Amino acid sequence: MPGACRTARALFDLPVAVGAGEALPVRTGTVGAAWCLGVLCTTPERPAVLRELHRVLADDGELGLLVFERQQARLHDTPEGNDFPTGAELERQLHAAGLVAVARVRCDELAPAPPSWGERADRVQAAVAAAHGNDPRFRAAQDQQRRIADLLADGEISGELVHARRLP
Ligand SMILES: C[S@@+](CC[C@H](N)C(=O)[O-])C[C@H]1O[C@@H](n2cnc3c(N)ncnc32)[C@H](O)[C@@H]1O
Repeated sequence: MPGACRTARALFDLPVAVGAGEALPVRTGTVGAAWCLGVLCTTPERPAVLRELHRVLADDGELGLLVFERQQARLHDTPEGNDFPTGAELERQLHAAGLVAVARVRCDELAPAPPSWGERADRVQAAVAAAHGNDPRFRAAQDQQRRIADLLADGEISGELVHARRLP
């Protein structure tokens, strides 16, 4: 998503690079801390992305993941482009890539975010809706969000924050 990277650059004035998760434009063993938020359940290339994260992490590097995990065998709805692993599948794929989870927490167990964060997010959402509300891509994104929110509310999937490291 080059547009998202351009916006991140404009907002934070930090270097950005666009690349595929399974072929990161980053040197081997150089990354002290990586995060991969909501990506692993949107790619069929999950094992390759995990192997690539393992490749770029420094020996003592830390990895943060946000993964929506499937809590039951069949879901009443599978939003397009998503493939939710079970917790056991994710653990197996982490190990196969040379990684291990050292801590995890369910997102719904976290303390609520400060109200000011929600207010700012609402303002952004309103500005995007005002500018793009008639764009079919905006409506598709909203539909996907609603379908994922329904699965979360029903407990069919859960958001998991995972802290992982390279296997010793
Ligand atoms: C749910 S969004 C999360 C975006 C962002 N990490 C965030 O937290 O807002 C999933 C992102 O994963 C990206 N993605 C999916 N498969 C990918 C792959 N194989 N390589 C790189 N990015 C991928 C999509 O382009 C999309 O931007």
